[in-house]
Amino acid sequence: MAKLTEISWNDFEALPLETKKPYLENPGLSDTPYHTLFAQQFDRHLLERLAALSNRIRFMAKSKEGSLYLKSLLPHKRAMLYFSQPSSRTFLSHLNACQILGLTTSSVRDSATSSEAKGESKTDTIRTFSSYVDMIIMRTPEKGLAEQMAWELSNSDRPIPIINAGSGKDQHPTQALLDIYTLLRSFETKGGLRNRTVTFCGDLLRGRTVRSLSYLLTNFENIRQVFVAPPQLQVPEDVLEILKEKGVSYAISDNLREAVTVSDAVYMTRIQDEWDKDKGESARIDTSRFKFGAEELKLLPKDGVILHPLPRRDEIAICCDHDPRAMYWRQMRNGMWIRAALIAMTFGFEKQIMCFGA
Ligand code: NCD
Repeated sequence: MAKLTEISWNDFEALPLETKKPYLENPGLSDTPYHTLFAQQFDRHLLERLAALSNRIRFMAKSKEGSLYLKSLLPHKRAMLYFSQPSSRTFLSHLNACQILGLTTSSVRDSATSSEAKGESKTDTIRTFSSYVDMIIMRTPEKGLAEQMAWELSNSDRPIPIINAGSGKDQHPTQALLDIYTLLRSFETKGGLRNRTVTFCGDLLRGRTVRSLSYLLTNFENIRQVFVAPPQLQVPEDVLEILKEKGVSYAISDNLREAVTVSDAVYMTRIQDEWDKDKGESARIDTSRFKFGAEELKLLPKDGVILHPLPRRDEIAICCDHDPRAMYWRQMRNGMWIRAALIAMTFGFEKQIMCFGA
């Protein structure tokens, strides 16, 4: 199996994402991620294994006996949460996932409070963190930083896994994992995640969750993707290139109501104005037709679901919250289960958890 230590950073960085996958696997465990950096690492088989492990952890966590067993698995490991961008759900769900498995955690939530403020390089900062812990979960505004740090650490004398909890406008692989888990659960008794239409709506240009989920959906049979956004915020060409390469059917639209009537899932996103180059740039875009409210709810098929990575602003009206098709609260909780599954798998505890009570 190829390892990150067998390739220079420049050569690794230049590889197509799918070709990078074997470099990121756990050398001791076949088909198991070591570093989790982008959605392209996960194929259907691995997604289904992760969903099964999440289900298992979710059920075990309901009982004291199951919880104590889960907590006994990783008390000898420590994780560091390094979040230099704002986060509520991704931070807390990773933190709670660690706690479910008994890991102890530490965190830096603002680079102004780390020695980066004294001019320390990112590489030195991450190597410093890696001296104390056994895993780093990181969110940064820089595209590709998690990847570079994974390469650095794999080539250091203290290699530890990195989980990308959001890198720039680029990728958010663990969010896409929880989105897929939510879709799998939503359609479990309704024919599964196949022959479906998934509509993405909002800021598809800068929403990193969209890129990661769009890719993961290509692993499932006959999933048509519809991208609804104002022209200035439409999905970037690189996402469409992948769909073309994979022969996935897609459509570009600016009509949410029309899309909703034929959708099995509608994935709403907020306007990501923190990336505006000029202040007020996003506010000048007319986004009024890209919101999900009472009218859209009437048009959504009866088995359809509404998803949102959250946080929301006004792109989903509060009146939709109690509709059984509103999945975003459950989706958020699913994040904790699938992150616990990913961490357990990364440390090699998949089999042990799956065999509990057998
Ligand atoms: C997203 C993110 O930060 O990329 N949220 C999340 O992780 N749940 C989307 C967002 O902030 O809009």
